[in-house]
Amino acid sequence: METANTPERKKVIFSAIQPSGTITLGNYVGALRNWVGLQDDYDCIFALADLHTITVRQDPAKFRKNALEAYALLLACGIDLDKSLFFIQSHVHTHAELAWLLNCYTQFGELSRMTQFKDKSQKHADNVNVGLFAYPSLMAADILAYQADMVPVGLDQKQHLELTRNIAERFNGIYGQTFKVPDPYIPKVGAKIMSLQDPTRKMSKSDENVNSYVALLDKPDDIMRKFKRAITDSDAQVRYGEGKDGINNLMGIYSVMTGKTNEEIEREFDGKGYGDFKLAVGEAVVDHLRPIQEEFTRLIGDKAYLEQCYTKSAETALRISQRTLDKAMKKVGFVKRAF
Ligand code: TRP
Repeated sequence: METANTPERKKVIFSAIQPSGTITLGNYVGALRNWVGLQDDYDCIFALADLHTITVRQDPAKFRKNALEAYALLLACGIDLDKSLFFIQSHVHTHAELAWLLNCYTQFGELSRMTQFKDKSQKHADNVNVGLFAYPSLMAADILAYQADMVPVGLDQKQHLELTRNIAERFNGIYGQTFKVPDPYIPKVGAKIMSLQDPTRKMSKSDENVNSYVALLDKPDDIMRKFKRAITDSDAQVRYGEGKDGINNLMGIYSVMTGKTNEEIEREFDGKGYGDFKLAVGEAVVDHLRPIQEEFTRLIGDKAYLEQCYTKSAETALRISQRTLDKAMKKVGFVKRAF
């Protein structure tokens, strides 16, 4: 019981990202930047969701490289291990174990209705594996294992979080309070970054056209080229407005990079053309990413340090999540493990 004397505990936030290749400016603005900002106010637990990644076939060498690079890049973006945990999901075996348990409290019909499953099974029609189907119950295990209060998720993962809540409530309904039922965390400012080639669509690393997205590790020249080629409109005025998706998107990016408001941006580029504006956006992105890229280069060259980081976090994560797993197994009626 909390009394007047107990210091108020910070709320727990859990989130994860898949190491499935390139991390884009869209991921950074939409998710990672927010993660970094949450670290002072919440107990943050972050994971690299590599178990989720093998639901789509991976080349082993590339997969390993991607995961290590994604880990280093997220540290470079500002995940601070003095404040937060950040581990590799496959290193913490409780996730897969709890996922199995939860599978038995998740209905075939529920998983069949997940839009991501429907989309991905169309996209990878030759490999509609059981893991792809059960992906949401693994995600539920990630979250519920830490008794997370809140989960920052984008629109594409909202349905999975809703399912997580249903699974938790169902389990609690049968066995009594076991899992905290998590709420979605809606960030205060949510700039969604769109494709530079089709600004009506989200910027995506799986886009076939590399000019449509900026990767966090893109070289300055490439970043500049991509912004120079960004699709705009024929209005030729830098102002925010309907039907100006391309300019709106560039203004959004520039605003995040510089902290300037739309009005300030409109004033700055009053009387100037799109060419000048695109260059300015490109330069702002290059400047913003430079220290991140430098830190990434340093970290990826220090494998021993990286190993120390993800190991330490995984050990703590294991301790926390094991408590939840033990509790859930006890409720279900498993014979208590005596070692
Ligand atoms: N499925 C998420 C994605 O692809 C990643 C993820 C895995 C996640 N486990 C999670 C996100 C738990 C939030 C909470 O984006």
